[in-house]
Amino acid sequence: MSKYHKGSKIFVTEVVIKVMDLNRAVEFYKSIMGFKVLRKKEKKVVMTVDGINPIVTLIRPDDIVPKEHRRTGLYHFAILLPTRKDLGKFIKNIREKGYPIVGGSNHGVSEALYLQDPEDNGIEVYADTPDRNWERTLIGVKMITEPMDYRGLIELAGDDVWQGAPDGTILGHMHLHVSNLDESLNFYSALGFKLVQAMMDQAYFVSTGGYHHHIGFNIWNGKGAPPPPEDSAGMKYFTLKFPDEDTRKEKINNLKEQGYVMIEKNNKLFTRDPSKNLIKLIV
Ligand SMILES: [Fe+2]
Repeated sequence: MSKYHKGSKIFVTEVVIKVMDLNRAVEFYKSIMGFKVLRKKEKKVVMTVDGINPIVTLIRPDDIVPKEHRRTGLYHFAILLPTRKDLGKFIKNIREKGYPIVGGSNHGVSEALYLQDPEDNGIEVYADTPDRNWERTLIGVKMITEPMDYRGLIELAGDDVWQGAPDGTILGHMHLHVSNLDESLNFYSALGFKLVQAMMDQAYFVSTGGYHHHIGFNIWNGKGAPPPPEDSAGMKYFTLKFPDEDTRKEKINNLKEQGYVMIEKNNKLFTRDPSKNLIKLIV
């Protein structure tokens, strides 16, 4: 398990997505992402890697409407594989199945492949490089964007076959469309995150414990972009996990002091960032 996703860190664990076609989505998350079904109801399928914890939950609301462009919401959620070799196996599998890849990059801190699920939700699948090789900067960690070494990754996989997401696969980070970078930074700072990199006033990356980022947010859908309608297809919420109840309380108080509102539903606590991205706060 990544040291940046346990202990005293605050990190993401799960994403819930509203989909138009539940069966098609489940098939994709099984055959391409390699997840397993943990629980299944008529309009809700919880998917897992370890057989215990949800990683992606797919729901089919009755009143769902198609996704609109130029809105805040999900840019991508990012699935962190345990090793570089696992990423090689993932690439071999997706190529063999003929599923389209949108792009791939070497970010220095990680190697990352990008794709869209059948309903155009962005997904990154990545492996971190050893953190002793990360270039630390005054504020955080340097990330670059260079071509991905597909050949090296596939060679590393060798004759090994992808047999689903391996043990230790987790939700590594979230990347969101927001309407205002600095407002978003204030909000995520109140939750305990630190700015690690700012990309030319286009995107900010924040983390806890020195990770390259647990959350990224950008204004690529336009400064001041409106939130999606409540019933829109796309992300419903993602989950942030706190190390203990005291820390969660402290961060919730920070948010309340800044005028943010907590939403309680079925004994679960949620809040919305300034761009209306819904977040579940768990311990
Ligand atoms: Fe990302």
